[in-house]
Amino acid sequence: MRRKLVVANWKMHGTISQNKVLFDEFKKRLNSINNVDFVVCVPFPYLYQAQQELSGTNIAWGAQNVAKHAVGAYTGEVSAIMLCDFGSRYVMMGHSERSLAYCETEDNIAEKFVIAKESGLTPILCVGETFQEREAGVMEHVIASQIDAVLSYAGASVFADSVISYEPIWAIGTGFSATPDQAQSMHEFIRGKIAKLDQEASETLRIIYGGSVNPTNAAQLIGMRDIDGGLVGRCSLDAGNFEKICQAASVLVA
Ligand code: PGA
Repeated sequence: MRRKLVVANWKMHGTISQNKVLFDEFKKRLNSINNVDFVVCVPFPYLYQAQQELSGTNIAWGAQNVAKHAVGAYTGEVSAIMLCDFGSRYVMMGHSERSLAYCETEDNIAEKFVIAKESGLTPILCVGETFQEREAGVMEHVIASQIDAVLSYAGASVFADSVISYEPIWAIGTGFSATPDQAQSMHEFIRGKIAKLDQEASETLRIIYGGSVNPTNAAQLIGMRDIDGGLVGRCSLDAGNFEKICQAASVLVA
């Protein structure tokens, strides 16, 4: 049975003092929920603070991006080993707010996935289609291509114990989430795609949903058969909202 996973994506928000307040609230509010995994993905400079604040709690931490190279002359990049140095256990890659704005290719993202995995981190591969792609009915094709980049680079077994976050681009930060049926259908497609190649990997792969998850829609979304949790942006900046989403996940497995 896959454990539910709720990831807070703080994006480019926070300061040391604001983070301190949120970390304290998260610790207090999530302390007694022990049937769900929690992760906070912070901006790089706050990994040290996350490590100081969250060590010994039931909340893991990680980053929102990683370099595709292990080490070298790559100005401005942050390697997987550096993330591990600060106790990170998870790292996101391929989020549309990065891949679109910084022209990241699918291959680039696949390389990040693999280096994260090789470094002992749990990769969170973000995939998603635009509104136009959904309207044109090619969303499965788009998602398949994003996953194929990793498959052709590292095979299906790399997805064992990994995370894919399905994030329709039209749902991120818009207040309009996918419906539970739309999300379930894509999650089923993704799991089926991996299962055809590696049944075992598909069973331990957690596929979470991201895109306007809030306290009102969380239970319905995370309650779907192939939805193993949520990646939460805006509502993770409010401890009360985030707690409600986490509670919804917890009640579903209780
Ligand atoms: P949102 O962000 O919850 O603000 O829509 C989701 C995401 O970062 O994917």
